[in-house]
Amino acid sequence: MIHAAIPTDPMDFDSENTPSNPAPRATIGEVIAERYSRRGALLGGLAAALAGPAGAVPMRGGPSTLTFPELRQQLAQTDAVAEGHESRLLIRWGDPVLPDAPAFDPRRQTAAAQARQFGYNNDFIAVLPMRPGEPIGERALLWANHEYTNTNLMFPGLGSPSQARTRMTAEQVEVELMAHGGSLVEIMRDGRGWKLAPPGRLNRRITATTPMRISGPAAGHPWMRTSADPEGRNVLGMLANCAGGITPWGTILTCEENINFAFGGALHDPTQAESQRRFGMTDTPPYAWHRFVQRFNRTQEPNESNRFGWVVEIDPYDPESLPVKRTALGRFKHEGAAYALAPDGRMVIYMGDDQRFDYVYRFVTARPHNPANPDRNLLDEGTLSVARFEADGTMRWLPLIQGSGPLTPENGFHNQGDVVIQARRAADLLGATPMDRPEDVEANPANGRVYVMLTNNANRTAAQVNPANPRAENAHGHVVELIPPGVPDRPDHAAETMRWGLFLRAGKPGMDAGAEYHRATSDQGWLSSPDNCAFDSKGRIWIATDSGGAAGIADGVWAADTVGGGRALTRLFYQAPTGAEVCGPWILPDDSALFLAIQHPGQNAGSSFDAPSTRWPDFAEGMPPRPSVIVITHGEGRAIGS
Ligand code: FEO
Ligand code: CA
Ligand code: CA
Repeated sequence: MIHAAIPTDPMDFDSENTPSNPAPRATIGEVIAERYSRRGALLGGLAAALAGPAGAVPMRGGPSTLTFPELRQQLAQTDAVAEGHESRLLIRWGDPVLPDAPAFDPRRQTAAAQARQFGYNNDFIAVLPMRPGEPIGERALLWANHEYTNTNLMFPGLGSPSQARTRMTAEQVEVELMAHGGSLVEIMRDGRGWKLAPPGRLNRRITATTPMRISGPAAGHPWMRTSADPEGRNVLGMLANCAGGITPWGTILTCEENINFAFGGALHDPTQAESQRRFGMTDTPPYAWHRFVQRFNRTQEPNESNRFGWVVEIDPYDPESLPVKRTALGRFKHEGAAYALAPDGRMVIYMGDDQRFDYVYRFVTARPHNPANPDRNLLDEGTLSVARFEADGTMRWLPLIQGSGPLTPENGFHNQGDVVIQARRAADLLGATPMDRPEDVEANPANGRVYVMLTNNANRTAAQVNPANPRAENAHGHVVELIPPGVPDRPDHAAETMRWGLFLRAGKPGMDAGAEYHRATSDQGWLSSPDNCAFDSKGRIWIATDSGGAAGIADGVWAADTVGGGRALTRLFYQAPTGAEVCGPWILPDDSALFLAIQHPGQNAGSSFDAPSTRWPDFAEGMPPRPSVIVITHGEGRAIGS
């Protein structure tokens, strides 16, 4: 999400960039191995496709199967898409979600209005059929996460982010609570592609106040109990929902990430001090909520924050259903939750913990998924594991099971609830590999490989490099590729060990130390800070970035082949408006449309509601920038990218 985008403001949210892992040091063995290894050894013969310096290439053609005319990089108040394609606005912050939503009036916004309107800072999006298991027809459901709020861009007269924090009112906090969560809306096809449909029966707003159920090993745990919920089994709302995923039975998995923004005040429970510190909790968070809402104040409710930081499952087909926090999947700063099925039918969910020096995780269900009769509680039992990368090109999934290895009562792990609530601390003890901010981790159905987006990590020192994070002061990030046994036809995503390699190292070829792509990557085709990704039907990867402008280029979407002569030849397809990152990418199964979530437009230094750096997408006087979901189609009805 947000990092270093407003570097002049000390109150800028910098959560993911402030590491809380106390000892992210590589072993001497890893350092030596890295020093003597060559990419070829790590990549197992794939290096040839990556080798060589970048050079000037024509804007069209080349070895890539993606034939669209590449976009030219630019910094601009508005966005742009590759020639031949059309971009269309689907829904903006403040647009109606429920039938009784009032018209958007940003100068007189209320919590009651916001609770019925599209929320702020859309991140993960999913496009689902109107009934589970059916193909996408003339109508569909669009889900969007609302990750966080830019107070000073949402309300007039608040100034900078740090000024907004001290000036904001209790009423504005209530609006922010309603601007979090997620939205479900009906969309429909017309002659030009997709547009928002009138509010339908399934339209729904989830907010930071929606009642939810807690299931799995942490349900009822003493650290989950509060004055409002003495049983520790019910919670109000979800927070900081970043990326996510779906399940084979048609539900949405939405992931709580930087929940520490919301909690503040002094913690007086010494038994939790280390656990909360490891999660990044502080007395003075970026949000002002704890000054107004008691449950976000750690002095008054020391346990409330333990009830956030989970993967939440939501049934979009039952508007009355309670969302469920599935605690078996662990508690950390969850980026996403993308599934693949193992050959025996067990469901495997890949997850990143997005903070500098944190880890890549996986959850494998105890039982297979049965398509004929899905078990709706399949995610309550299984094995959570964390990744350790070795210098010899192998990696191992280390299980987080109470009683095994160091996860004993002596170390504070008396039951599996202790393990999942403190998943980071458990993973520290197991010797997981500290990564450069793991964001999306997604399996490519076409080649069976798994792609790990590692955004960046400027804090990594030369002494802290390891084979999977080979650059010190990694300003631009990289993409790691996991290769399960049995690829490409029968990948075993539940295997204990896999091979791995580097897919690309971001940055500008020739300018940034160690940037590596296909040799034909153009001056437009380099990227920085890979965050989210999606695959089209041919297995090509579409990478959305979140550099926060630190790379000097706009964020956007780059597409590349993953196999063949065009492997890792990234090409610029979409450029975001200033201040925005690009999230979500969601591609329809027939490649006819690419849905994108454009998050925090106008989040630049010095930008505010009253003097924004852009008024995208409305460009109407007095209207602030509005986070929005857009859809891109080919103008001639062809597949995107052609
Ligand atoms: Fe919310 Fe990891 O970006
Ligand atoms: Ca992001
Ligand atoms: Ca993200």
